[in-house]
Amino acid sequence: MKAKNHSFTEDFDSEWSRAGTGAIKYEMRKKLFGSGEVIPLWVADMDLPMADEIKEALAQRLEHPFFGYTLWTDSCKDALVRWMYKRYRWSISPKWLGLSMGVMPSISFLLEEFTAEQDPVIILSPVYNPFREVVEDGNRRLVESAMKLTGGKYVVDFEDFEKKIIRFGVKVFLLCNPHNPSGRMWTAEELQKLASVCERHGVLVVSDEIHADLALQGKTHVPFAKTGEWAKNHSVTCVAPSKTFNLAGFNTSVTIIPNSKLRVRFARRMQKLHWSYNTLALTAMEAAYRDGNRWLERLKKYVWENYLFLRNFVEKELPEVKLVEPEAGYLLWLDFRDWKMTVNELNDFLVHEARLGLSDGASFGKEGEGFQRLNMACSRSVLEQAMRQLKEAAEKLKKE
Ligand SMILES: Cc1ncc(COP(=O)(O)O)c(C=O)c1O
Repeated sequence: MKAKNHSFTEDFDSEWSRAGTGAIKYEMRKKLFGSGEVIPLWVADMDLPMADEIKEALAQRLEHPFFGYTLWTDSCKDALVRWMYKRYRWSISPKWLGLSMGVMPSISFLLEEFTAEQDPVIILSPVYNPFREVVEDGNRRLVESAMKLTGGKYVVDFEDFEKKIIRFGVKVFLLCNPHNPSGRMWTAEELQKLASVCERHGVLVVSDEIHADLALQGKTHVPFAKTGEWAKNHSVTCVAPSKTFNLAGFNTSVTIIPNSKLRVRFARRMQKLHWSYNTLALTAMEAAYRDGNRWLERLKKYVWENYLFLRNFVEKELPEVKLVEPEAGYLLWLDFRDWKMTVNELNDFLVHEARLGLSDGASFGKEGEGFQRLNMACSRSVLEQAMRQLKEAAEKLKKE
């Protein structure tokens, strides 16, 4: 990739170099794919520059030469409270908020606090793989309910979901809302149905809403906790500026817990960590939620146009590959099952023939076999090159 010397600009079309920044998307290619040459379209961060408003807030904060222990200020919480209301008409109290070092660490601590070893935890498969790992690493029992892919859309098999909850005595449901890897945004009706099942069986819902702000095409995300009184009082919502504003390296996320009993328990759990807050991360978070809207709308338009480019290309040039149209996020779920390759054959082909570093669908669960996840948050020219490589490799394969 060409390196360009930018500063304070939001040029999405340029191919920025991340060399020298320790970006795992690039630095881990050799380890993960066995090749340092693949175009990296895997881990969910963006190869697109952050909002000027955030960069300016950080630069301003750096002018002051003190970085001692810091509070989570009211103004920072207020920026998030306003963001939630403006985007989702969800009125939340600053009291409900808890700070954490990431959504996955939050989920790990939540499971520790609200379940015991071997307690069953349910997920809808396929799903973001760390959901699986966090359950198993914590010695909880993983229960999976497979979703159905119908008409290019994932839907919950409610009958199976409820049956599994009853059969295993499930304690916690880890919901990915919107859904990674498919980009599905659950409707209010679907969320209410999930809530009813969980209510019937006393299941606590942890709703990971990290991709919510990235709703595409003017669609609106529905927070699980907003779907009813029961949902509000029996859920923990996890949000973060990390996916939305490309700030994953700041390791900061927020839990929203309206129920005071649950909240106090979880706050005590977090206190036991003796963890203190990161000044720059909070500066970035406040600027993001206060002033990030302009950039975010621009970004989502760019991502959507990237999707349209990919859809046109795939439909014309690689019609056997199917796309699951995302409703939120910058991740594209590609269905290669018509190629009739095994998981290993497909991975080898993509890495060694097409020279692409995608996320293997099988890692999202058995239902993900034959799929791959592609990160669309990069300049269009990178995707054009990626598609050329894929097409050339596919043609070569056909000739063999
Ligand atoms: C659904 C989902 N949850 C959590 C995370 C990771 O969040 P964090 O880095 O805050 O742990 C990701 C990252 O891709 C994600 O897609």
